[in-house]
Amino acid sequence: MKLTVVGGGSTYTPELVDGIAGRRTSLDVDEIVLVDPDRSRLEVVGAFSRRLLEHAGHPARVTTTTDLRRGVDGASAVLLQLRVGGQAARASDETFPLVCGCVGQETTGAGGLAKALRTVPVVLDIARRVREVAGEDTWIVNFTNPVGIVTRALLAEGHRAVGLCNVAITFQRWTAALLGVEPESVRLEHVGLNHLSWETGVFVDGVDRLPELLARHGDAMAEHLGLPAPLMRRMGMAPSYYLKYFYEHDEVVRGQRTEPPRAEVVAAVEKELLDLYGDVAVVTKPAQLSQRGGAYYSEAAVQLVHALTGGSGAEQHVVNVRNGGTLPFLPEDAVIEVPAVVDGDGAKPLPVPAVPPSVAGLIAHVTGYEHLALEAALRGGRDRVADALLAHPLIGQYATAERLADELVARNAGFLPWA
Ligand code: G6P
Ligand code: MN
Repeated sequence: MKLTVVGGGSTYTPELVDGIAGRRTSLDVDEIVLVDPDRSRLEVVGAFSRRLLEHAGHPARVTTTTDLRRGVDGASAVLLQLRVGGQAARASDETFPLVCGCVGQETTGAGGLAKALRTVPVVLDIARRVREVAGEDTWIVNFTNPVGIVTRALLAEGHRAVGLCNVAITFQRWTAALLGVEPESVRLEHVGLNHLSWETGVFVDGVDRLPELLARHGDAMAEHLGLPAPLMRRMGMAPSYYLKYFYEHDEVVRGQRTEPPRAEVVAAVEKELLDLYGDVAVVTKPAQLSQRGGAYYSEAAVQLVHALTGGSGAEQHVVNVRNGGTLPFLPEDAVIEVPAVVDGDGAKPLPVPAVPPSVAGLIAHVTGYEHLALEAALRGGRDRVADALLAHPLIGQYATAERLADELVARNAGFLPWA
């Protein structure tokens, strides 16, 4: 099978290649194509990926190209992991909302909207070319943030796409270790949207162990997630760490006023990683990669591609899919993040137990925002940007939305054809 990675010059690519190297008996990949506009990145990351595979004794070839059409021709699956504007644009997303006392984050709030506006047109353009060249059957696995909005854009255009994030698999691995069981034996009950999700059950052999986890490890879990332990115990759920931007918004903003943006930290880690990737003596995944947020992303991706290409029979994975009737309080065409049965026909969401009003309310609120964000990304216009911001629960006031809309458009004009 040929697997194509768009954004293949990313420092995350060796994580994925390492995942493929580790699953060589099951996921039958014989060619990995890295597509990226940045030739020097391609050269360094491509050469290192070859060394990783060779060291692991994996027979797959790694090829690199700046030509998307060539890269996707004949691919069984295409992974999208790009970042329009790079870490510089991310640094802007993480700082401009602070002028209004709003959180600066690359996928949440005004920063996430800026990222969506830059990204949706680029990803749709790529998806159209994938469909043209590789055909309608090729799967698109989207990790490109904001995953919920980008996946919704892909599905709205009829692409064969599934959205993926590592939040659920990271929680699965973590709780498995706390419980002293194999990760594969943990089945999560996970509900919400991408980067707005709650674990409502952690099942091992049919028994929900979440109450026990909260009772025994609640403090450690809360600290790790950046959330108040009493809140988690009272909810009886584990919100994802992205919920701290909601439940602890002002506290996070206070910290952000004095700390460097995450983009700066990541840029330094990336520089170090690229130096290591360029060193011919390095043949295994460097430890520095674990300083990035994408832990287990490779495993989630490899498992998902395996299931989508029919290699593993029906499997259960937490993915971003069309709602349909799964969450009855949302429109059918919303994209939700829930457990789904995945096979060669795609991902079908499993039924989700009813969620409490506070959770349903927040999910519905952010879904409304995501709808308007996609409208703004597809149709452009400063007022659509302001409308989406007004609909976001972390913004919500007219004057703030107006000011942030102007700031967002001014800062991203180079990426927005209509601005
Ligand atoms: C998590 C999220 C990803 C996000 C990443 C950021 O893995 O699920 O969607 O891209 O964090 O990590 P970084 O190291 O770039 O801050
Ligand atoms: Mn994610």
